[in-house]
Amino acid sequence: MEKKRILTGDRPTGRLHIGHYFGSLKTRVKMQDNPEYDPFILIADVQALTDNFNNPEKVRKNVREVAIDYLSVGIDPKKTTIYIQSMIPETAELTIYYSNFVTVARLERNPTVKTELAQKKDVFGDNITYGFLGYPVSQAADITTFEGELVPVGEDQLPLIEQCREIVRKFNNIYGETLKEPVAVLSNLSRIKGLDGNEKMGKSLGNALYLSDEYDVMKQKVMNAKTDPARIKKDDPGHPEGCMGSYYHNLFSSKEECENVCKECKMGLTGCFHSQKHLIENINKELEPIREKRHYYGEHPEEVKEILMNGVEKARKLQKNIRKSKKKQWC
Ligand code: TRP
Repeated sequence: MEKKRILTGDRPTGRLHIGHYFGSLKTRVKMQDNPEYDPFILIADVQALTDNFNNPEKVRKNVREVAIDYLSVGIDPKKTTIYIQSMIPETAELTIYYSNFVTVARLERNPTVKTELAQKKDVFGDNITYGFLGYPVSQAADITTFEGELVPVGEDQLPLIEQCREIVRKFNNIYGETLKEPVAVLSNLSRIKGLDGNEKMGKSLGNALYLSDEYDVMKQKVMNAKTDPARIKKDDPGHPEGCMGSYYHNLFSSKEECENVCKECKMGLTGCFHSQKHLIENINKELEPIREKRHYYGEHPEEVKEILMNGVEKARKLQKNIRKSKKKQWC
């Protein structure tokens, strides 16, 4: 039976947070244990440069941080190939061919690109670079160079997968059936709210709880997370709907505990402090083993490097084989 290739990745622009964890990392860990899949994860350093071209050191440093995050949450290099995007230069070559199948207007309309541009006024002002506008094309090359069929990502990435599918269809139309059309795989929690109540947790939004946050930092963040503004005194009846404490309880605590917390809050029986204390314990139960592994890999950089180099080697071999099998059809 031929295994289905999973292809996904992250930009190394910062450490990963619990939005990544619930949105995609947990799905990746689960999928790697399924013998029907052959998972590949890329650390997208070339893509990270498109909006950090003026800060290459940041990207370089975070390649390692993201690799450590992967290993710490349980991505197992024996089951999942982790590689660095820039070390497969053929992807850049393919990007050039693909760029003929995408109009500038289509890229400008891409909702993910639009949202990011609005957040990155400090980098681009009103003048977007050719490189950033074109990153969805290079992402299509990332996926198709390895014949990625399933792409587990957060919801914000859907327009990029759709763009990739369009490129594949156009390519196949003109050059004959050559490329596989990938499908996005969303976890049922593909978007996680920020500590401030924002619809999205994001490093650039400053509202993230990082997998690498030490206990005290995590505790402080949870204590300062948005709660019900109408609840001033402990026995005021609360509204858990708008409270981040209650929202994160749903992620980290048992169903029974969540129901209790909610009930007691609504009746004004227990204060936020009490509920936050339990939440902090539950978060810690989940994050402590991850933090411990992070410390281990932080102290063993050679081990991380070896894992990445082995991943690159595997990825290169596969890329060469796929390329060979399609040679006649390629331009
Ligand atoms: N765009 C993704 C991010 O912002 C990173 C990425 C690059 C990616 N290439 C990919 C994701 C291919 C999935 C598939 O983090």
